[in-house]
Amino acid sequence: MRIFVTGASGWIGSAVTDELLAGGYEVLGLARSDASAASVSAKGASVLRGDLDDLDSLREGAATTDATIHLANKHDWAHPELSNKAEREAIETIGEVLAGSNRKLLLASGVAGAVPGRSLTENDASPFHGLESPRGGSENRAFEFVDRGVGAVSVRFAPTVHGVGDNGFTKIFVDADRAKGFAAYIGEGTNHWPAVHRSDAARVVRLGLEKAAPGTVLHAIGEEAIETKLIAEAIGRAFDLPVRSISADETVPQFGPIGTFFGMDIPASSARTQQLLGWVPSGPTLIEDIEGGAYSAS
Ligand SMILES: NC(=O)c1ccc[n+]([C@@H]2O[C@H](COP(=O)([O-])OP(=O)(O)OC[C@H]3O[C@@H](n4cnc5c(N)ncnc54)[C@H](OP(=O)(O)O)[C@@H]3O)[C@@H](O)[C@H]2O)c1
Repeated sequence: MRIFVTGASGWIGSAVTDELLAGGYEVLGLARSDASAASVSAKGASVLRGDLDDLDSLREGAATTDATIHLANKHDWAHPELSNKAEREAIETIGEVLAGSNRKLLLASGVAGAVPGRSLTENDASPFHGLESPRGGSENRAFEFVDRGVGAVSVRFAPTVHGVGDNGFTKIFVDADRAKGFAAYIGEGTNHWPAVHRSDAARVVRLGLEKAAPGTVLHAIGEEAIETKLIAEAIGRAFDLPVRSISADETVPQFGPIGTFFGMDIPASSARTQQLLGWVPSGPTLIEDIEGGAYSAS
């Protein structure tokens, strides 16, 4: 089987590409630059040059392969409306190509802000609809294609997909803490974050491709709920920094605009995903990764 992977050069996409190639799949990876193309082809995947703004490249990739895994994201934190629009357009474009084919379309999603006050489960429908909502409501938009013969499957990743080389939230918090000279948690630090090791996340994607029925929500969540104070304390130990509480008002000055995520209570379970896929997370925990030096380079 030949799989079209958007974002194949990215943090999760490169691990998914490795996982698929090791599983005997062929991969066609979307790449928007020479450097990304080189990193995709160095793995043994084929390259499709294109961009999220070049919808014909998405059409070509989806049309010429047996399934699509959509992991590319502009991550334009200063202009989230641009990322949201690209997200929605990509799903609509690929969905139209795959309509009537019963081919799989796996898309990346998240868990933040979906249900307040308890752990999010796979049975909780996303509350996000429409272009203006997070990710452009892409999960619900993808599921609208299920009745039209598209095997849409949403993979909600933990907000930190951690490991050596991670440039996501945990790296941003570590860098900010090091720059400020202390590791911070917000308020009491009793709010929770879920987490997943990158290798475990990649395995969820491959198993989801193989086993998940159209319309399924999967949770790539290895740890359901880690108190953010424990994350700050691990950063403090790893980098020999004092640890202290900051107020909500100090969050953006400490971590930048995306720091408000660190104050969110967003536990999420993966019990159903584990049962459905026969998936058992086995990578290091977030605290083990931080203390083990995964964030120590540079
Ligand atoms: N990492 C996490 O902790 C995490 C948590 C929750 C959800 N997610 C979601 O999972 C997905 C993958 O995340 P990631 O961490 O792997 O992201 P990433 O490392 O930032 O990779 C993003 C990928 O998208 C590509 N891309 C960016 N803009 C593009 C454009 N205009 N046209 C074509 N490709 C473009 C990048 O290509 P280049 O290599 O050329 O830059 C890269 O391959 C995203 O939707 C993300 O929001 C990630």
